[in-house]
Amino acid sequence: MDELKVLVSRQQIARRVREMAEQITADAKGEPMIFVGVLKGAAIFLSDLVRQVEVDATFEFLAVSSYGNRPTPTPELGRAWDSTGEVRLTKDVDQSLRGRNVILVEDILDTGLTLTFLRRLLLGHEPRSLRVAVLLDKPSRRKMPVEVDYIGFSIPDEFVVGYGLDFAERYRNLPDVCVLPATAWTDGS
Ligand code: IMP
Ligand code: MG
Repeated sequence: MDELKVLVSRQQIARRVREMAEQITADAKGEPMIFVGVLKGAAIFLSDLVRQVEVDATFEFLAVSSYGNRPTPTPELGRAWDSTGEVRLTKDVDQSLRGRNVILVEDILDTGLTLTFLRRLLLGHEPRSLRVAVLLDKPSRRKMPVEVDYIGFSIPDEFVVGYGLDFAERYRNLPDVCVLPATAWTDGS
């Protein structure tokens, strides 16, 4: 596999995930929590996070896709690769979230469209509390404001892969968060 530039190293990730877990533990005040991960990108982050929170935890996964989805950059789309905003649930959670303390766990907050949709969806379950944890945030690309409780790292407007994040399903297993050079998805013009 080609060498990619590391943006956030595995050591930085490990340290920050531990800090986030400590904060989540403190905020949970001894109450049980359900961690809801967004497939597939958040799977690795969730699995590292839940093993370090000291609360009575269960976890769930849901999955979404976008209509008119342009989930990854292509030469034709260039930097206009993001989704059109109509998000659709493709896998729901398996247990009721009603009256429960929920933490939504997502890999990256970009335009904010996905998390806006998911927050609204989960609030419809009438949880006791809803918090949101994201590993990465690209604030410069936001189209909708989103309330997020825990952010791992704010990063510049680069397409990143690794630690769960993909480009056309590849690179999810890289241990570091790396920058995918624009040459990988544009014709270079
Ligand atoms: P949003 O709805 O624009 O906030 O997009 C969030 C989703 O877009 C994430 O869950 C990712 O699946 C995807 N995404 C956004 N930026 C990147 C990136 O740099 N690398 C890989 N996936 C990304
Ligand atoms: Mg995702």
